[in-house]
Amino acid sequence: MSEFKFRLDPVSVPKVETKHRRIVTAMPAPGTREVMESIGRYESSNAMDQLPVVWEEAHGHQIFDPWGNAWIDFTSTIFVTNSGHAHPHAVARLKAAMDKLCHSYSYPTRIRAEYLARLVAFTPAYLTKASLFSTGTEASERAIKLARHYGMTKEPRRKVIVGWDGNFHGKTMGAQMAGGYHAQKDWIGYHDPYMVHLPFPYPWVLEETGKSGAELFQDHLKLLQEKGVELNGIAAFLAESFQGWGALFYPKDYIQALREWSRQQDSLLIFDEIQAGFGRTGKLFAYEYYDVEPDLVTCGKGISGTIALSAVLGRGEIIDLDPAYTSTHGGHPLACTAGLANIEIFESENLVAESKRKETLVAAEIERWKARFPDRIGRVYGNGLLWGIFLVKPGTDELDPYFCASVVERSLHKGVFNIHTGRGTIKLGPPLNIPDDALVEGLRAMEEAIAELVSEA
Ligand SMILES: Cc1ncc(COP(=O)(O)O)c(C=O)c1O
Repeated sequence: MSEFKFRLDPVSVPKVETKHRRIVTAMPAPGTREVMESIGRYESSNAMDQLPVVWEEAHGHQIFDPWGNAWIDFTSTIFVTNSGHAHPHAVARLKAAMDKLCHSYSYPTRIRAEYLARLVAFTPAYLTKASLFSTGTEASERAIKLARHYGMTKEPRRKVIVGWDGNFHGKTMGAQMAGGYHAQKDWIGYHDPYMVHLPFPYPWVLEETGKSGAELFQDHLKLLQEKGVELNGIAAFLAESFQGWGALFYPKDYIQALREWSRQQDSLLIFDEIQAGFGRTGKLFAYEYYDVEPDLVTCGKGISGTIALSAVLGRGEIIDLDPAYTSTHGGHPLACTAGLANIEIFESENLVAESKRKETLVAAEIERWKARFPDRIGRVYGNGLLWGIFLVKPGTDELDPYFCASVVERSLHKGVFNIHTGRGTIKLGPPLNIPDDALVEGLRAMEEAIAELVSEA
């Protein structure tokens, strides 16, 4: 079957008018295509591959276009707006901040001092210092650099960074090289021999091999040696806390074995929490499910909920290894304001606990999907408000990206805005403060979409 393309010519769809959704035009709304084409004309972007909705406003759990339509947001803008769109508290703080100071470079500001103290207090006690940047990929670069500094000051040969196939850390050179999407690295033109990758220990690998996670980790150490890696040359393991496309976590005993081994070897353990962090999975950081203490943690996206902000958090003596590593916009006063407001919202609305509580609401709905569409719903993984639902070809385990994208498009026509993974999985990620009834309503609209597509097949 050919690759799925979202329809750009408007078709008439049934009107939807509820407390949380409003679809009153043809879909995509007339005018959408023109905006997308204009972006595509002037920016070398993937504008035409995005879901065809023009974002005019977004508030709380809803997205509004300029033509009167409203969607329930199940993306949190790819896990940025965990505390909801345009939260009034964040907006008020940002407006006040803009009247005072719109840029400060790395010069001292009170907001930077206040935010850093709050950030370190809000996160686990062993993370004692932070560096601030703007994007996730910069945080990855910083973590890689710190890991190399740490390893190489001990012994010059200790510079290997171990990652996993299929993990993602950003699109700048170091981050991309450390990531596990190998086909996307050709542009670099060479491969850093001190960045190596292991196969991701997917649940089905454990099922197929009958091995425990701890045993698999031992196999992976041998595999590293077979790849020519001297184990005492490993500076760090850089792990995305889970793979987003399927909400796929590592086996807990795999990470625990890794932590024990890396501690003995004095190799660092770094978790990339850029997507995973800030309550997404029902814990502040997703790695907390592994019951381990990492040495460094990278954050982005949901750390601010709004303005570009990222951070590397870690043990003070590691962060201090490279004190001159700053960036012009890192720790921007507006970003620090946004980060501070975000923490205040997390605390006042108890968002980490809310994410965990809402897990049960999603689980109950997905159980019904499974019972109703046993041929179409494959594996399901979820923690908090992060879910990966595998849509499969009838009667098989094979993912069905075309069907999945059709569900995403049909849901859009019903007023639910989803992530398009392109992989055959629905990746759910609503804002953590989405009202319960909106969450359930959105999932039921998606269920309706699946039912229609199944019956049309
Ligand atoms: C796990 C992970 N790491 C790093 C990044 C890069 O972040 P940014 O796009 O802000 O550079 C992303 C972005 O999607 C991510 O999901």
